[in-house]
Amino acid sequence: MAFPRVVPFLVLLTISTTVVVASAGNFYQDFDVTWGDGRGKILDNGNLLTLSLDKASGSGFQSKNEYLFGKIDMQLKLVPGNSAGTVTAYYLSSKGAGWDEIDFEFLGNLSGDPYILHTNVFSQGKGNREQQFYLWFDPTADFHTYSILWNPQRIVFSVDGTPIREFKNTEAINGVPFPKSQAMRIYSSLWNADDWATRGGLVKTDWNQAPFTASYRNFNANNACVSSSGTPSCGSNSTPASNAWLSEELDSTNQLRLKWVQKNYMIYNYCNDSQRFPQGLPPECKMA
Ligand SMILES: *[C@@H]1O[C@H](CO)[C@@H](O)[C@H](O)[C@H]1NC(C)=O
Ligand SMILES: *[C@@H]1O[C@H](CO)[C@@H](O)[C@H](O)[C@H]1NC(C)=O
Repeated sequence: MAFPRVVPFLVLLTISTTVVVASAGNFYQDFDVTWGDGRGKILDNGNLLTLSLDKASGSGFQSKNEYLFGKIDMQLKLVPGNSAGTVTAYYLSSKGAGWDEIDFEFLGNLSGDPYILHTNVFSQGKGNREQQFYLWFDPTADFHTYSILWNPQRIVFSVDGTPIREFKNTEAINGVPFPKSQAMRIYSSLWNADDWATRGGLVKTDWNQAPFTASYRNFNANNACVSSSGTPSCGSNSTPASNAWLSEELDSTNQLRLKWVQKNYMIYNYCNDSQRFPQGLPPECKMA
């Protein structure tokens, strides 16, 4: 029995080395295509995932793991050409009534017209915290990295490493619930929303352009706490330095970059919509 014990050990070593080198996750390992009847595909040995949408159906996938805090990156290349009416949603969500959710949604447009990046944060089933942005590049020409930093103090949405939105935990100050106790799965879907997505529903999906396809690669959740049966584990290497993301905040450079995006690319901010909130803006808006 001595010999067989040595072999698995070596095999294990080789596997773990490979995982470290290839730090990007493998879609077979990390995700399940959950709907769309073959319209969602894992390709290229698990390095690429594509979702498609046609008149009959969209498609979607979800993570095998649940996460309770994390710094999660995904690269997306959005539906090119005339994508009006389509929505590519990429989000984290817990389950059940009183769920928490962190959303990126990409609203398609006519060729050459800008996508809208729509974001929202739900805590305990309550959302209504939309912020929308144009992007400073064409998100259909190549892959770009969309990241969520979620730790007990804040949620930061970033695009190619540039923060676009920060939602702080202000619970101790104003009682606004912050997502901090419900584990979330990662979900993505491509679907038809031409009743509202493009210019408020004025521009409809052109089914002659179908199938519409969005692509995903380089998923990275190396810095995340995976929650299995309620016990989160924040990776094998849980030294304080490697878990710095758990208390990460925006440094002064990143605060300036956030301001730059908000000034130049933000097109809607619920905290700026006093008509919508005649009783007064939500309390977290005063903290920004
Ligand atoms: C689509 O393009 C129009 C015209 O430039 C713009 O007003 C709109 O915000 C763009 N995006 C969406 C999703 O409607
Ligand atoms: C904020 O509100 C002002 C006044 O209504 C408006 O002109 C501006 O476009 C709004 N900005 C955002 C990002 O919503």
